[in-house]
Amino acid sequence: IFGAERKNSKGLNMNIISESEPFFAALEKFKDTQWSAGPLVNGETLSGEVRDVVSPYNTTLKVGQVAFANEATIEQAIAGADKAFASWCRTPVETRANALQKLADLLEENREELIALCTREAGKSIQDGIDEVREAVDFCRYYAVQAKKMMSKPELLPGPTGELNELFLQGRGVFVCISPWNFPLAIFLGQVAAALATGNTVIAKPAEQTCLIGFRAVQLAHEAGIPKDVLQFLPGTGAVVGAKLTSDERIGGVCFTGSTTTAKVINRALAGRDGAIIPLIAETGGQNAMVVDSTSQPEQVVNDVVSSAFTSAGQRCSALRVLYLQEDIAERVLDVLKGAMDELTLGNPGSVKTDVGPVIDAAAKANLNAHIDHIKQVGRLIHQLSLPEGTENGHFVAPTAVEIDSIKVLTKENFGPILHVVRYKAAGLQKVIDDINSTGFGLTLGIHSRNEGHALEVADKVNVGNVYINRNQIGAVVGVQPFGGQGLSGTGPKAGGPHYLTRFVTEKTRTNNI
Ligand code: SER
Repeated sequence: IFGAERKNSKGLNMNIISESEPFFAALEKFKDTQWSAGPLVNGETLSGEVRDVVSPYNTTLKVGQVAFANEATIEQAIAGADKAFASWCRTPVETRANALQKLADLLEENREELIALCTREAGKSIQDGIDEVREAVDFCRYYAVQAKKMMSKPELLPGPTGELNELFLQGRGVFVCISPWNFPLAIFLGQVAAALATGNTVIAKPAEQTCLIGFRAVQLAHEAGIPKDVLQFLPGTGAVVGAKLTSDERIGGVCFTGSTTTAKVINRALAGRDGAIIPLIAETGGQNAMVVDSTSQPEQVVNDVVSSAFTSAGQRCSALRVLYLQEDIAERVLDVLKGAMDELTLGNPGSVKTDVGPVIDAAAKANLNAHIDHIKQVGRLIHQLSLPEGTENGHFVAPTAVEIDSIKVLTKENFGPILHVVRYKAAGLQKVIDDINSTGFGLTLGIHSRNEGHALEVADKVNVGNVYINRNQIGAVVGVQPFGGQGLSGTGPKAGGPHYLTRFVTEKTRTNNI
């Protein structure tokens, strides 16, 4: 379905034994591996303050160690990337794209190690790890093809006889890519690939929780032929690395995925610094709803609700937070929902049986549990799972469903396995739409209905970037569901979509009368 120029990665089907047996055998080899990472500046791994990396699943298990960048390292990385820009932006787009295609191949060749890292460092389930590598591969290949389409030749423009008018697209300079821990490979490399394909040099700052995965990805990018000064890697905190990078005059753009609050901090830093006005591409949070009317099929609804709310322990910006149930169908859906929640297996993300793993760290766990305590008092508990034995040393939060009166009682995004349910009457649908829009967020919306006119009306009136009708609302596929929101959820353009690269380039018109 993607045409001759590109195919999405197949990923891996764990139900096919000839695929899964060699996969699990290869995965097993990394069960005790210890990784190490540090600032990778002009190809050299530099030292810095060293921190242990432990698994969110069990904090007594060490995964490796990482050295954080300091002021001097950051300065070296900016200077290196700045100097490398002149030649990288003049490197033919075909050469840049070929390196990204090679990187995609290397990701597939190293899939098991990357998945082991995803489960052990980020606490992702094996299925999430498989999907993570697949999406990273797709981003590299998609942006390679898109960049060639956009940049191989200048656009010819009309003019008087003898005058040649051409419009060129070119990289903007040093792009700072700041990525989140919930997609430590896919979003990390998606940002980096987009910036590199379009002729920018890159300083990649991974989330401080997932530096080992980012480091390995950058090593593979260098192996694929991305010059070492063109792609620099700076692990560290937002307060040190993020703040210094975003206040530097030499950077040409910022690509950020994370919270709306941090996006605003970056926006202020960019506005306050000397030098050019540069773009910020931000993909931020959501207060995502699903609207279910009484024509829906309860079993299908519950299947999609459970997947949307609890996959990845609810740690996706696309995840379902507020389920609107038309009252005539609410009791039936909630009954099936309780049963389906009981079927979820919680535990070690490295086990193939696990559906819900840990949340990322102790702070996330404490915030989510505080929210659960609060919302149970404001609303009515529908169902909460118990944490099984063996999860005591990990950052586990019990999947919870709570009924509330209105989305308005939620004052922030709760980034974990917590589902809020609101009942509505058919006559109150416009208020449901208004309430969802009143949050200011606009990322994903799920709709369940067998009345197409009704579904399309809701889809039209709710201000979001991604609408999913009669399916789950997570797992956007590159080139199929370009992903990104409106309002407080992000600036656009959409990742994995045909307009994404336009924000990474600047334009030059050449009028030639020679
Ligand atoms: N792109 C992811 C999804 O669609 C969220 O970041 O689930």
